Amino acid sequence: MKVIVTGGTGYIGSHTIVDLMQNGFEVVCIDNLMRSKEYALSGIEKITGTKPVFHYIDLCNKDATFDVISGHKDAVGIIHFAALKSVGESVEQPLLYYHNNVDSLLNILAAVKEFDIPNFVFSSSCSVYGNADELPVTEHTLMQKAESPYAHTKQIGEDIIRNFSKVHSSQHILLRYFNPIGAHPSSFIGEIPIDKPNNLVPYITQTAIGKMQQLTVFGDDYETRDGSCIRDYIHVCDIAHAHTLALQHLLHKENESNIEVFNLGTGMGVSVLEVIEAFEKVSGQKLNYTIGPRRAGDVVAVYADNTKAEVRLGWKCQYSLEDAMLSAWNWELKMRELGL
Ligand code: WQD
Repeated sequence: MKVIVTGGTGYIGSHTIVDLMQNGFEVVCIDNLMRSKEYALSGIEKITGTKPVFHYIDLCNKDATFDVISGHKDAVGIIHFAALKSVGESVEQPLLYYHNNVDSLLNILAAVKEFDIPNFVFSSSCSVYGNADELPVTEHTLMQKAESPYAHTKQIGEDIIRNFSKVHSSQHILLRYFNPIGAHPSSFIGEIPIDKPNNLVPYITQTAIGKMQQLTVFGDDYETRDGSCIRDYIHVCDIAHAHTLALQHLLHKENESNIEVFNLGTGMGVSVLEVIEAFEKVSGQKLNYTIGPRRAGDVVAVYADNTKAEVRLGWKCQYSLEDAMLSAWNWELKMRELGL
């Protein structure tokens, strides 16, 4: 069975393509390579033995989108990752984010309608909850105001799909990722930050390998067990497998409605300092970091209640924080070897 993956050369997209292929799916990858490298396709091939069909187009171009999807009308589903995802950049360039993330979604949904694609899985984010007023966060936790234009594009995206699902026969799943980290155990694929990393873990590994001078911990005076912020760090391979299970859930018609929402987190909150400690333990080296001021927009703590995905999708996290940190470090070393 064929599945179309948009944003498939990206971090989570490439890991999901590997998982889909290893579960018997034929994959068609669409990407504009704006924030990813075509290298991901050969990394996927090294792991699975097969390079996915690749269409190099911008989903903001409706004609190009229709042209490509019309060639894959037999696809059993679309998994839509393609989007810009830097919280900081979205604050500086809101129009870029609203245009790119919303227009591309509108075009791909128009193609779902035009070509009767039966299933649609959307890459959403825990950032849709904003400053959640309860922990752990469940799928029913009230959404607060989005803390960034990026998060707002994910809230808008979910609403668009919800209203689309009311009038179309396609089946939809929204997956809300917490903090994806790590890399495939083979070290053939991983996150390739295009310029300065935005997120904690790539910043840690780039500091450790010498690409960055020093990590700054953004605040250790929060009301948490060690003063640093708490997040739900989840191995990217666990996130990837959840997409395969979500698509199979729809294919087996196990869904209770034509739009379902699932949190993808480990259910465990971990602090910044605990992530650093885990890195030092698995890498065997001290990390050069300093404590700095808080970062605007940071929530103190957020972590998932992942029961619904466990029960309804049969999904279980396989990797620990230490597995993720070791794989992230091995990937950083591999990127240096590959000159990425
Ligand atoms: C994590 C913690 C920082 C860098 C991310 C994505 C967002 C969404 C949720 C997918 C925070 C601290 C960071 C540094 C630090 N994912 N930190 N020094 O902000 O939770 O959001 O996950 O949709 O798109 O951006 O992740 O990795 O930026 O920060 O102390 O140099 O690490 O303050 O507490 P965040 P992050």
